[in-house]
Amino acid sequence: MTNLIKIKKKINKFNKKIRVSGDKSLSIRWVLFSSLANGKSIAKNLLLSEDVLAAFNAIKKLGIKSKINTKECVIYGKGIDGYKYNNKLTLDAKNSGTLGRLILGLLINTPKIIKLIGDKSLSKRDFKRIAVPLNKFGAKIKLSKQNNLPLTILGSQNLKPIKYKENRGSAQCKSSVIFAGMRTNGTTIIKAKKSRNHTELLSKHLSLPIKIKSNKNFDLIEIRKVKKIDKINYDIPSDISSAAFFIVLTALSKNSKLTITNVNINPTRTGIITILKKMGVKIKIKNKRIYKGEKIANVQIISSNNIKAINCPPTLNSGAIDEFLIIFLVAAKADGISYFKNLDELNQKESPRLFWGAKILNKMGIKTITKKNSIKIFGNPNLIINKKIIIKEFLKDHRVFMTSVIAALTFGGNWTIHDKDSIKTSFPKFLKLINELKK
Ligand code: S3P
Repeated sequence: MTNLIKIKKKINKFNKKIRVSGDKSLSIRWVLFSSLANGKSIAKNLLLSEDVLAAFNAIKKLGIKSKINTKECVIYGKGIDGYKYNNKLTLDAKNSGTLGRLILGLLINTPKIIKLIGDKSLSKRDFKRIAVPLNKFGAKIKLSKQNNLPLTILGSQNLKPIKYKENRGSAQCKSSVIFAGMRTNGTTIIKAKKSRNHTELLSKHLSLPIKIKSNKNFDLIEIRKVKKIDKINYDIPSDISSAAFFIVLTALSKNSKLTITNVNINPTRTGIITILKKMGVKIKIKNKRIYKGEKIANVQIISSNNIKAINCPPTLNSGAIDEFLIIFLVAAKADGISYFKNLDELNQKESPRLFWGAKILNKMGIKTITKKNSIKIFGNPNLIINKKIIIKEFLKDHRVFMTSVIAALTFGGNWTIHDKDSIKTSFPKFLKLINELKK
C-alpha cells in the first residue's frame, strides 16, 4: 500500500456533527497514573494511537498488565511501588515526547538502570530539559551527546525534594517533576509558566497531596510523597488538538457547518479558539460541563469569510502550541500580515514546525518572513492554488501531514502528501472522519 495521499479537489460544503478521538495528553496520563494505582482502572474512549500504545508497552515492561480494546481499556495496577522488571530494561517511547519525559519522573527511584529510546524524531529532541531537574532529586540520567536519546536512568533510594522553576511553559517538564515529587519524601516546589494542567487536575481528582496556587502567568505547585493511588475510571474526552484540524477545515470551507462533540476545552488548551476568534472565525462553545475537573463542551464552527490578520500575543503560545501549523493556514487566508512570535518551543516538536509551517505556506504561494522564533505571514484572502505541491521528508510529523491535507481540501491545487501513516501517532481516524464529511 502506498504511504501517501493525493488530493486534487477542494472539499464540498458539509453540515455535520462529529466526535474526534480521545485526548492524547489525558490518555497517556491515564495509562501512567493507572499503572501505579491499586487495582483495576478502566478507561473509555481512550485514544488508541501509537503514542498511547507505546505507553501501554512501557508499563507492560515494568510488570503491569493491561487489556486494550476499542470499547474499553483496563490496567491492573499493583500500587505505587508495584513495578517489577529485570536488569537491562529498555523502554521505547517511539514518537512520544510526553511519554518519554513523563515516564522518567516515575522512574526517579529505579534501583536498576533503565535505557530509554525513541524513534528518529524523538531521538533528535532535547532531554536535557528534564535530565537537569530529575538529577537534582538524586537520579543519574546520562544523555547521548546532543542532550537527547538514547539515555539511561538510574534512580536513587535517597531522593531529595527540589525547587524547580519551569520557564518554557512545558507541561511535559512540569508533569515529569510532579511525578518525581510524588515519589520523594518532603515537599517538591514547582514554579511553572502556564501550560496544560491535566497532571495537576488528575492529581487533585485522585486526592493526591498536591497544592496549586495560580497567578496570571505562573502556577505554584507543591507536591508531597504519594502513598496510594485509587483506581481510575475515566471516560476520555475528545482532543482539541485533533478537533483543531476540523475547526480550520470548516472555517476555511464555503457554506459549511460542523459541530464537534465532547471536546476537552480545558482553558490551558483553548489557545486555538481564542486566536481564531480574534481572527474573525465563527466558533461557538455549547453545552459546557465539568468532568473530573476537566471542562468539556461541544464546539460549533461555521464557514468564515473576512478573516483578519493577527499580531498574536505570546501569552497564548503555550495554550496553542500543538496548533500553530493549522493556525498558520488561517493566517494564509487572512486580510493582512499576521505575526507570531516567541515561538522557540515550536521548533522543539516532532519536527521543527516553525520551519515546516513556513515551508508549506511558501509552497502554497504565501510569502513569509521567518526568524529563529517568529514568523510573519502575508495573508491572501483570494488565494487559489492551481499548481502541484509535494510534501515529503518532514520527519513523519503527524501534524505536518494533517495540516497539508486541510490545506489541500480548502485552497485547492494538486497535492501529493507523503507519510500518511504518521497519523497513527495521534489521530488514526483522521482520514476516515474527513471521508465522513464528504458523504
Ligand atoms: C504535552 C505537552 C506539550 C505538547 C505535547 C503534549 C503534554 O509539550 O506539545 O504535544 O501532554 O504534556 P511541551 O510540554 O514540551 O510543550
